[in-house]
Amino acid sequence: MQQKQDQTRWSKTMKNVSIFSGMLAVLIALFGVRAVADDHCNLSLGAADNMQFSTKAMAAPVACENVTVTLNHTGVFPKNAMGHNWVLTTEADFKGVAMDGGSAGLKNNYVKEGDTRVIAMTEIIGGGESTSVTFSTEGLTAGTAYTFFCSFPGHWGIMKGTFTLS
Ligand code: CO
Repeated sequence: MQQKQDQTRWSKTMKNVSIFSGMLAVLIALFGVRAVADDHCNLSLGAADNMQFSTKAMAAPVACENVTVTLNHTGVFPKNAMGHNWVLTTEADFKGVAMDGGSAGLKNNYVKEGDTRVIAMTEIIGGGESTSVTFSTEGLTAGTAYTFFCSFPGHWGIMKGTFTLS
């Protein structure tokens, strides 16, 4: 009799452990997937005094409602001499935005004030500085190669690449 009670109790305990493990697995799966998606929505790139971005192709999953791009200036020159920023436009708008930005000045981060062609942009930074921008992917087309570039005068010819939601 005593043994049977023990067995029943043991079996109940095991059932609870099993339910608990199941719930734990579901939680880990949920948060695990969430963490991975978040990681991929946070992109970073570098740029140094050699006037080059560390990558020419950036991509984020279509699932990202927002994307954060962090730019790290790994050089030493100040922003008025070797400034870098990260500006995103369509491929078609890129040259116009870059050329208009040239006369906008450092105080406007070399982007024409109120330029509606700009999808996202950071400020201009100098050596040792970092900056980031978070933008909504609403309105962007998956699979389309958008253009990112540095709008500092003379840089955008070389400092450019593609950004794609894939
Ligand atoms: Co630059």
